[in-house]
Amino acid sequence: MRVLGLLFSLALADRSPLEARDDGKFWLNGEPITLVSGSIHYFRVPNEYWLDRLTKLKYAGLNTVELYVSWNLHEPYQGEFDFSGDLDVVRFIEMAEELGLHVIFRPGPYICAEWEWGGHPYWLLHDTEMKVRTTYPGYLEAVENFYRELFGRVNHLMYQNGGPIIAVQIENEYAGFAEAQNIGPLDPAFLTWLRQLIKDQNCEELLFTSDGGWDFYKYQLEGDPYGLNFDDVLKTVNFQTNANLWLSALENVQPNKPMMVMEWWSGWFDFWGYHHQGTTPASFEENLRSILSANASVNYYMFHGGTNFGFMNGANFNTNSQTGGLEYQPVITSYDYDCPLSEEGRITEKLDITRTVVQEILGFSPPEERPADPEIFVYETTVASEAASLWRNLAQAETFASEECIAMEWFPVNQGRGQPYGYALYRSQASFPKGNITIDGMDKALSGRANIFVNQERVYSITNTPGNQNILSEIPVDMPQWGNVVDLLIENSGRINYKKLNDAYMGLKEQIGFGGNFDASWNIWSLPFDQEYIESLKWDSNPVMFIDAPAFYKFDVYVDEPMDAFINMTKWGKGVVFINGRNLGRYWYIGPQQTLYIPKTFLTRRDYNSIVVFEEIQAPEIREIEFSATPILDVNQEEWPQPQ
Ligand SMILES: *[C@@H]1O[C@H](CO)[C@@H](O)[C@H](O)[C@H]1NC(C)=O
Ligand SMILES: *[C@@H]1O[C@H](CO)[C@@H](O)[C@H](O)[C@H]1NC(C)=O
Ligand SMILES: *[C@@H]1O[C@H](CO)[C@@H](O)[C@H](O)[C@H]1NC(C)=O
Repeated sequence: MRVLGLLFSLALADRSPLEARDDGKFWLNGEPITLVSGSIHYFRVPNEYWLDRLTKLKYAGLNTVELYVSWNLHEPYQGEFDFSGDLDVVRFIEMAEELGLHVIFRPGPYICAEWEWGGHPYWLLHDTEMKVRTTYPGYLEAVENFYRELFGRVNHLMYQNGGPIIAVQIENEYAGFAEAQNIGPLDPAFLTWLRQLIKDQNCEELLFTSDGGWDFYKYQLEGDPYGLNFDDVLKTVNFQTNANLWLSALENVQPNKPMMVMEWWSGWFDFWGYHHQGTTPASFEENLRSILSANASVNYYMFHGGTNFGFMNGANFNTNSQTGGLEYQPVITSYDYDCPLSEEGRITEKLDITRTVVQEILGFSPPEERPADPEIFVYETTVASEAASLWRNLAQAETFASEECIAMEWFPVNQGRGQPYGYALYRSQASFPKGNITIDGMDKALSGRANIFVNQERVYSITNTPGNQNILSEIPVDMPQWGNVVDLLIENSGRINYKKLNDAYMGLKEQIGFGGNFDASWNIWSLPFDQEYIESLKWDSNPVMFIDAPAFYKFDVYVDEPMDAFINMTKWGKGVVFINGRNLGRYWYIGPQQTLYIPKTFLTRRDYNSIVVFEEIQAPEIREIEFSATPILDVNQEEWPQPQ
């Protein structure tokens, strides 16, 4: 034992950390090294598949895996931590180590990543003064509490403690933050503070920042208003194409140091209502060759994208490519990313290109044995067995009366913790007389997507999609009878992860008026559509065909041996799919995503599995779901029945 212990400490003493030396090279443990790394977000992949995805990363010829940390999932409520199951980041890192991979650790706290609020937990919004990514004291305190918890768990995985983590990122694209925010002054002191916080957690690994290539031109022109200039922190660059241009931008501001592309965008992500995005294998190969030929290290963002299960997609607040105006752009459920490993773990052409290029340019010899692609099973088309109208299922939801419309984070529900995600229903207490009226102030109040119902018939939808981003300040609505009820069903379609990060409240943030009168009072229902709610649904005794949206439809699918699948929602309108109570994600006829990935790990063997679809617009005439052998991620359906 003593001999072993001695050997062990000798071995540790021999481990010298990753260094970015002035000879332009990375050195690890006394050897120069080129890092060829790939991003996998453990929180976007069921844990049962981590080993498969990491094995495929190794098969591609990569020597490092990079991961972000999703603060919002790890600390769903303030001070309550979850690092289990799909959130067992320690296990994920250990698995990488067992495969002989190095690990690059990017703990945020802001991760962008097309993820709900860039990884920030919703409860930060309980402080109305909250300014994320700044030295605002309430933010610093929350970050510090989380980092103590997180680093306490991963400390033994640091390279100098014998683990695989060789580098740790400070913040995320901070140089692009000020411009993106449109909200006031830069706060470079935040980076200084965060760097110290990481060091205070006994982390002695190489620290780095990462920023867009274009930000280095700004940096050069404007000096360093971003606070990036630390002696002991390496700058790394992010881009998709024009490798030589952006690498030289980095070299200009940081000569003689090894160059690393921390995010080489190997594909791209999608927004609802836009066409499918990606990069061609040819462009991918050309840029990979340029990066490696320049002796730079690289991290593929992404190597394997995975899925925004549940309500975890983010949104951009960005320019509409057609109108030039700013708009809210929610991200789809799939995070396939058009990268080397598809959403369901299939090897793509980009993976094979990677193998060839790293052998040719770097002389790497990736493993020969090709891991198997997933087998996709096409379950039988199934007709709904039962249905439940939303209107008849409000009783199980928490509800309260309010003089004003308020954001969901402020709802007095959920043991006083407000509502994090999902839908909310705002019903005016007024009974409106026959005639025409306007619904006023949606343009200012709405954060998310709205369906307006009069007497429980949908009369208007506000979608934040191309060409439809202008919300009327006065929406004309016809009140057809004597005594009309107005319901506003609001979806939290995902908090913004890029640009305009502050003021992230969802729902109706301000009062809504009718015909110029803002005195309305409300009954509000909190509809998080969590497992408890889905399992509490009261199925209607009327035949399924008579139950119209907004409603839940239940399908019993017999599963013998669970296998991965795609549910094809092409015929449906817009909504959410749940499997055995678990939220799979959103679908929407406008695309580009038409199928949802079902990992076999969500299914129960030799049993009827319950699929529940929440449809908010219109179910197909025959209430059936079908499955497909392949994903559909590139179809936009323009034609769809509009109300009235
Ligand atoms: C890359 O490194 C090799 C070996 O050190 C050197 O010969 C070559 O000139 C370098 N290439 C570039 C573009 O710096
Ligand atoms: C309300 O306005 C619609 C057009 O927006 C019109 O067709 C309808 O006749 C109007 N109803 C009343 C009662 O004025
Ligand atoms: C998906 O469903 C639509 C509508 O039923 C059908 O036309 C299409 O062929 C299906 N696609 C696949 C890949 O199964």
